[in-house]
Amino acid sequence: MSPAVLPHTPQEVLEIARHLLYTKALVTFQNKAIGTVAAIPQKVRSYSNGQVSVSIPEQDLNYTEVFMRDNVPSMLYFLLDGRPEIVRNFLDVCLSLQSQHALTAGIFPTSFHVSPDRLTADYGQRAIGRVVSVDATLWWLILAQIYSQWTKDWAWVAQENVQAGLQKFLQLILHPTFREAPTLHVPDGAFMIDRPLDVWGAPLEIQVLLYGALLSTTHLILQGRGKQITPGELEQVERTLDLAIRLRRYLLKHYWLNTRIVQILRRRPTDLYGDRIVNEYNIRTETIPHWLQTWLGDEGGYLIGNVRTGRLDFRFFTLGNCLAAIFDLLPRPQQKALFHLILRNRDELFAEMPLRICHPPLDDEDWRNKTGFDPKNKVWCYHNAGHWPCLFWFLVIAILRQESPSDELVADSYAYHRLLKDGYETLLDRLPEQQWAEYFDGPTGVWIGQQARTYQTWTITSLLLTEHLLIHKSEDKRIMDLPSLRYLLNLKRGLA
Ligand code: GLC
Repeated sequence: MSPAVLPHTPQEVLEIARHLLYTKALVTFQNKAIGTVAAIPQKVRSYSNGQVSVSIPEQDLNYTEVFMRDNVPSMLYFLLDGRPEIVRNFLDVCLSLQSQHALTAGIFPTSFHVSPDRLTADYGQRAIGRVVSVDATLWWLILAQIYSQWTKDWAWVAQENVQAGLQKFLQLILHPTFREAPTLHVPDGAFMIDRPLDVWGAPLEIQVLLYGALLSTTHLILQGRGKQITPGELEQVERTLDLAIRLRRYLLKHYWLNTRIVQILRRRPTDLYGDRIVNEYNIRTETIPHWLQTWLGDEGGYLIGNVRTGRLDFRFFTLGNCLAAIFDLLPRPQQKALFHLILRNRDELFAEMPLRICHPPLDDEDWRNKTGFDPKNKVWCYHNAGHWPCLFWFLVIAILRQESPSDELVADSYAYHRLLKDGYETLLDRLPEQQWAEYFDGPTGVWIGQQARTYQTWTITSLLLTEHLLIHKSEDKRIMDLPSLRYLLNLKRGLA
């Protein structure tokens, strides 16, 4: 597998990527393909008893496990590549691992280890720093929706164990809490950024995934139960939709930022009391950073990273923003402003390797206090503003699905196409040479990440998905579309 001879043509690169995915990353259990490992192991240890010798891949922390989030691109690619049975197997295996423990009932594992005779799930009890991954649970629901929508396998959705899994998820979400806000409160490192990076509270990515999971769950219940739906289930669907509506409204009100809003925020009074005030989270002007001026320009906009009392997190998080566009949480004009912002800041976000995970990095005092001196997350490294090729296809899908003859984006479509094509060419050029590295460091992302794994599966699938959507079959760009709120309300009305 060593790149002694580097591939020359795009076709050769793509063939290598497919070969790696299907023959090295894919894992089988009881003769079924059930998911892909996070990184293809490179170190192999050989054992010999004098007569027989065996070679076993060496365990590398948990990178040889099957991660829920890392499998999202793999599963989408399998769907597009005509292998839906792998996706169904993956969904079934994860469902069988949904926690039954009283304290965590309903959550899905971050990852699981596959041995010949059993699967061992990690819900956070084995994770470095014992971080819990909330995104895994939300992703399962979204993936179940995407799978059934794409294949029309409604029989799978109607199964009792699938419906029971949905119920367990709703029991986690629809219960009384201390806060009125519709956002989901999580500890630090509860999603793709799975080490402390001051992303506790209500980080954007979790909220957008929650929105997607609520829409997905509602659809899976309505579709799966059909005419058999009970009044109790209908009432539950109503509460789920109500939460989704409130969440979207809240995110658009408190997280959306553009230059006009910054100017309003800067002039608001503080220390107000009561239920009709203009500065609910008591944000002081001094906390609003000046880099926003050039970052936003006149027309740019994005969803900020977090909303907490006294402290908005103004960092730009790439995945949360792309997903907000893909799930249509952002209305069209806001999507346009987001893509405008990305185009405007392409030297930062793309540089030598698309895409930067968040911007700007935490430095100095912030790095020391908020990451706990984490050497992996030093400034411009890893999660702290490093560059991750696995994020690129999300932007591809977000932009492509907006393009239609009547769309305003079309006016700029040449610039956007160029942007995506350039990104694709960078992946083609650099990934084989850099052995499909997990991430890249430095303000331009030119250096391979100091602690990056090589042959990282979601780096490989990012290239494959990008090629499929941008070059090969762009009509598949709607694969991640979720049912809209309006559609779900009508569907519910039809069954009531
Ligand atoms: C790292 C990443 C995490 C990913 C895991 C496996 O921990 O931060 O997002 O799921 O590696 O690739």
